[in-house]
Amino acid sequence: MNKEEITKFLSTDTKNEELFNYADKIRHDYVGDSVHLRGLIEFSNICKRQCMYCGLRSNNKNIERYRILEDELLETVKNAVSLGYKTIVLQSGEDEFYTTEKLVRIIKEIKKFDIALTLSIGEREEEEYREFKKAGADRYLLRIETTDEKLYKKMHPASSFKNRIKCLENLKKLGYEVGTGSLIGLPEQTISSIADDILFFKEIDADMVGIGPFIPHPNTPLKNSNEGDFNLALKAMALTRILLKNINIPATTAMETINPNGRIIALKSGANVVMPNVGNTIYRKKYEIYPGKICLNDGAQKCRNCIEQKIKSIDRYIASDYGFRQK
Ligand code: 5AD
Ligand code: FES
Repeated sequence: MNKEEITKFLSTDTKNEELFNYADKIRHDYVGDSVHLRGLIEFSNICKRQCMYCGLRSNNKNIERYRILEDELLETVKNAVSLGYKTIVLQSGEDEFYTTEKLVRIIKEIKKFDIALTLSIGEREEEEYREFKKAGADRYLLRIETTDEKLYKKMHPASSFKNRIKCLENLKKLGYEVGTGSLIGLPEQTISSIADDILFFKEIDADMVGIGPFIPHPNTPLKNSNEGDFNLALKAMALTRILLKNINIPATTAMETINPNGRIIALKSGANVVMPNVGNTIYRKKYEIYPGKICLNDGAQKCRNCIEQKIKSIDRYIASDYGFRQK
């Protein structure tokens, strides 16, 4: 599929049914009917950046900040492992408190469990990425957010587009499975740039792609902007499945936030991964990237049971392997 064809699908809703069914077929043929669960731990909401859309941005003073320290973090991992998770995702704001040394220690401890480990902690130096990999990290999530460089600059006053690309290149080079993705519905974002996002995922041969609608947060400069369109995000996700075929694609939490059945719809339109929160509920409200987050008061066990039921209800099953990309 070329840019013109991608753009055509993104611009109309008349072919949605066809598109979602085809993405579902590709998903079935290339990655099968299993769904990989990744246990998400949001271990710090402290962030030095100022992404215009994100509730964790440093300029937001209307938020109670927290950090989970090593012992508690390892307890959380242990609990997730006992619930059956085969991948743990460590996510945080860009928090320099967690030095290379601290993180290497944490990674090594976590890797003593029989699980794959994903990091999602933002932009770091190549040397740090190398140390994390050496310590045992398997995967890294770093969304490009948008490939429209002009829009990227507006949305990220404290970041550089070139450095973001550089980080993704470094992660690939170091042998991580690399996850990226974008936000759908940012102010002034065009259909053409969303098509470019999808082609970018293909170009860098992303191993995982997470796509979600933008949801305005009341304590950010974008509080009065419109929410992203669910169907447009779903179409971008389906097209990504069709183009990249064997990659891992999460049904994102943001999709469920704006559509009560969002993750199931996504799983039937190309997605094969879900990332339930396995952290302590006292932190969930505080990790408010966007408002209306689901499962705010649900513990790890409850989320696990809930998602298991949902997955079974559509004749899919939970994978028992680590869930690396099937090449
Ligand atoms: N709405 C939806 N998604 C958001 N993210 C950050 N802020 C928002 C928002 N307001 C996404 C970004 C980031 C991921 C962790 O959360 O794409 O990469
Ligand atoms: Fe933290 Fe964007 S506000 S990385």
